[in-house]
Amino acid sequence: MEDAKEEIRARLPIEDVVGQYIELKRTGRSLKGRSPWGVDKTPSFMVSPEKGIWHDFSANKGGDIFTFIMEVEGISFREALEKLAGQAGVELAKYSGSNSAVTKRKQRAREAIELACKYYQFCLTKNQKVIQYVFEKRAMNKGTVADFRIGYSPNTGRALMEFLSKRGFKKFEMEAAGLLNRFGSDMFRGRMMVPFIDTNGVIGFTARILTAGEPKYLNTSETLLFNKSRFVFGLAQAKESIRQHNFVVIVEGNMDVISSHQAGVREAVATSGTAMTELHLKTLSRLTPDVRLAYDGDEAGMKATERAIMMAGDLGVNLSVISDYHGAKDPDELIQKDPNLWKAAVKHCRPAVDYLLDKFEEKIDISTGVGKREYSDKAMGLIKYIHDAVEKKHYEQIVARKLDCSVEDLQAKKINQPVEKRLKKVKAQSKSDSLRGIEDNLHAVILFGKANQFEGLELPSDETKLAELNLIFEQKYAGWDPEKLNEEAVGLFRRYQIEKNKQRAAQLRAEITEAEASGDDARAEEITKQLAALKIR
Ligand code: UTP
Ligand code: MN
Repeated sequence: MEDAKEEIRARLPIEDVVGQYIELKRTGRSLKGRSPWGVDKTPSFMVSPEKGIWHDFSANKGGDIFTFIMEVEGISFREALEKLAGQAGVELAKYSGSNSAVTKRKQRAREAIELACKYYQFCLTKNQKVIQYVFEKRAMNKGTVADFRIGYSPNTGRALMEFLSKRGFKKFEMEAAGLLNRFGSDMFRGRMMVPFIDTNGVIGFTARILTAGEPKYLNTSETLLFNKSRFVFGLAQAKESIRQHNFVVIVEGNMDVISSHQAGVREAVATSGTAMTELHLKTLSRLTPDVRLAYDGDEAGMKATERAIMMAGDLGVNLSVISDYHGAKDPDELIQKDPNLWKAAVKHCRPAVDYLLDKFEEKIDISTGVGKREYSDKAMGLIKYIHDAVEKKHYEQIVARKLDCSVEDLQAKKINQPVEKRLKKVKAQSKSDSLRGIEDNLHAVILFGKANQFEGLELPSDETKLAELNLIFEQKYAGWDPEKLNEEAVGLFRRYQIEKNKQRAAQLRAEITEAEASGDDARAEEITKQLAALKIR
């Protein structure tokens, strides 16, 4: 694997890889540009072609070409490796010894499904019924049909199979791609084909029946290529806009995504007919913290919104809700009415907690005692997931005012409402941006400025990280005299300790909330003690 990485690095200059996303200008030995995370006021993104390293001084991130693609595309290391291998013309299978059989099978499945997609696209141009359905009934234009690679599966039951076997594919290969049903013939027949596309190409399909009938949609089941709890429909097409405008819209249906893009709201994605998972939200949170949900206003939509709130805090996501559908049943229907109504609805989204608090009020009569209890149960069950103390207090005060009680009364309630399916334990929090920034500077000053080392401080030894620290040092501290560097190190070290303490405290508070939610009072008390000890230090 290291060899493959080296080979790819050698073939792809970092300025070319980064240059696909950011406009870079040369300044001396390095190149400069604007942060792709949109947080700088002046160019703060540096690339050193010599070192093969980038560093973003506003977002406090950096690394090599692989980490750049992971960060900017919001994908895993493996996916970034595959993507860059593709660009470099490096065959990964050659480098991976033990799992090369799996890699090969996957590769064949990819080829089969890509060809299937092309075949379906071709079949669309030959079938009047689907042409009418796609262009008239669903009002798609040619650009949309091309972007989303819409197609048609002939209904003979063998058409695709025969086509693919003529092109040298074996049945087991088609099966691995999810193209056959359990009887060994075409899985999709007589349907409008909408491919699932990820960074590496087509991985599955959702197929809609053209008339009334069951099932309305037939979807690829889990395969070697397709994992539905991870896949986000439309992300390949939406990524650029999400990054540019720094928000994402999550709609319920795949067709809503397509309509939304056509209407000019290109930040829309969907979770393809399954409930949103933590993996979905995590993928999106890497691209933007501003997540807007466009779910139905029904019970199921509310539940989905509640679930999302439970996950959002841990991921640092700001959730809001788009709800103004003017009576339409979904975004697609609203857009057919008037695309501007959809644009306005997306713009006028509301914080998810505010939205739900109002929704609860529609359902519960809060003039009665029982109603007040019920409302406060639900509201506090939601509010406990808010991490920020100030934001939390804001909502507690709203609820207290509504119910004509005090915030203390609310806090005295025992919220034992079982969270449907306990959410996974809060993971050890990743370092906050500011902590990472301070730590990088501190390491750079010690390692490259020869400032005094501090007892107990661990220094990185990873080569990529060292090169990045070197870049930071050259950009920020070149020309400083030793005394000033030492002073800087002392100041940084102090801030580093303060930030670390803050982070530890935040984590403990989250654990207390967690323990309280599960009714584990002893544990909550134990952690509270730890928290108090932390504050004294
Ligand atoms: P809807 O029935 O609301 O579909 O299901 P829709 O997107 O509005 O479809 P159109 O506009 O009638 O074509 C929402 C989502 O649930 C999944 C699909 O992902 C769909 O987008 N679904 C629905 C299925 O997977 N299978 C089905 O049979 C129905
Ligand atoms: Mn619809």
